[in-house]
Amino acid sequence: MTRTREAGAAGRRGRRGARLVLAALLLGAPAHAADDTSPEALVGALLQNRGPIGAPFDLVDQRGQRRIDADFRGKVMVIYFGYTHCPDVCPTELQSLSSAIDLLGADASAVQPLFITVDPERDTPSHLADYATSFHPRLVALTGSSSAIRQVALAYKVYFARSNATQGSDYAVDHTGFVYLVGKDGRYRGFLAPGTPPETIAARVRAELQHAD
Ligand code: NI
Repeated sequence: MTRTREAGAAGRRGRRGARLVLAALLLGAPAHAADDTSPEALVGALLQNRGPIGAPFDLVDQRGQRRIDADFRGKVMVIYFGYTHCPDVCPTELQSLSSAIDLLGADASAVQPLFITVDPERDTPSHLADYATSFHPRLVALTGSSSAIRQVALAYKVYFARSNATQGSDYAVDHTGFVYLVGKDGRYRGFLAPGTPPETIAARVRAELQHAD
């Protein structure tokens, strides 16, 4: 496959992912949510704050170190779920998140940005290391076993699934793209919609920092 065709396929996957996020936002909760891991059910639960949202996690960072949620107690966690092969949605969100951290200035030391992969098969710690560095030096990128990733993703009402359109190791992962705020006490505080500008993210985090004091 030529580079151009690859780029085209990546672009199509990205647009498809963006449409999924938008569709999931617009659909809300269906009348009959038989499958509570469907995108409609998960996004509905998030939008209606049907808890509990969030949960403890036990994962591995980009340096290969075990990291649990309690390691970050005392800091406001800003969490984004995605995957490094994501063609455009994840990089855009992580860039916004990184800009927000910079906007916080000295307050950023009380904030921990976290990227949790929904593609643990490909996103190994060493793969995450290069990726995280390209966004922000303070970004901690986390991976883990498929079951550990699935557990934390579902706890945060994240929908993710491999796209059926591709085969082998060249696949896309459709996923919702919310940014989650977790207080210094480890409790879920709220979410920000995909596409939230860095200034708004920074303002919400700043409010959370004051709230927790
Ligand atoms: Ni993505």
